[in-house]
Amino acid sequence: MDLYTGSEAISRDELLSRVEGKSALIGLLTDTIDAPVLDAAGPSLRVVANVAVGYNNIDVDACRARGIIVTNTPDVLTNACADFTWALILAVTRRLGEGERVVRRQAWRGWALDYLLGMELRGKQLGIIGLGRIGHAVAGKAAAFGMRVAYSAKRPADVAGATQMGLDELLASSDVVSLHCPMTPETKHLIDRKSLLKMKRTAYLINTSRGPIVDEEALAWALRERLIAGAALDVYEHEPAVHTGLLDLENVLLIPHLASATTETRTAMADLAASNVLAVLSGEPPLTPVA
Ligand code: DGY
Repeated sequence: MDLYTGSEAISRDELLSRVEGKSALIGLLTDTIDAPVLDAAGPSLRVVANVAVGYNNIDVDACRARGIIVTNTPDVLTNACADFTWALILAVTRRLGEGERVVRRQAWRGWALDYLLGMELRGKQLGIIGLGRIGHAVAGKAAAFGMRVAYSAKRPADVAGATQMGLDELLASSDVVSLHCPMTPETKHLIDRKSLLKMKRTAYLINTSRGPIVDEEALAWALRERLIAGAALDVYEHEPAVHTGLLDLENVLLIPHLASATTETRTAMADLAASNVLAVLSGEPPLTPVA
């Protein structure tokens, strides 16, 4: 076994040099597993186990072409990610980031009737783009906050009381738009200047999916011009870099990719990745192969 213990993501060169001759590779979403990595591993490699549900960091076709199985970690992180999405929705609509910054810089002058007013969730529409496991779980918690749910997805889904809509209608009618679709060539910059212009000026955008689904330059523009009320981001186009145009805006909450970051969930993700490897190496079917 060869365990990388660095505190930052393994460098490309180190990954390429250490993967040679391995039978299995357990990697993180920060590791790009593409044809050069697979070639560097050589014919011994049988399974690539991603410790994440999203697997846009892996060239699945290149793995398939070499007979290498790819696995991910669905289900075990669904609840943590759904809770976290609600944490972002509440935090941005109630302006917690702004309030916390005011208190820390000792600029708070005391309670006032109209100070840092936010938006109430009750009676509003939550628009969910991509209704997979996490989107479903987010939708399932909406009733607790009195929100109705609209969703845009390829297939109709079985979510009580939720209305399926086309993307444009969802963008135009939702008070909170939350992204839960996978990162694919079709979803890259799904949220761009045009789609931001379709949103209500009072609406909020939440992204816990993958950064490149949002054009960060366009979002910075929309937030600066107050074309939408606010945004909460857990993921970025070029992590860990964040578009500089976002950094000094008060109406965006910027979080460092923490949606699944609970001790319970990260432990379950690591366990599942290891179990997938053990299954494949012992000739059993993997527990959670990617589709
Ligand atoms: C995932 O698993 O894809 C998440 O982004 C991890 O937080």
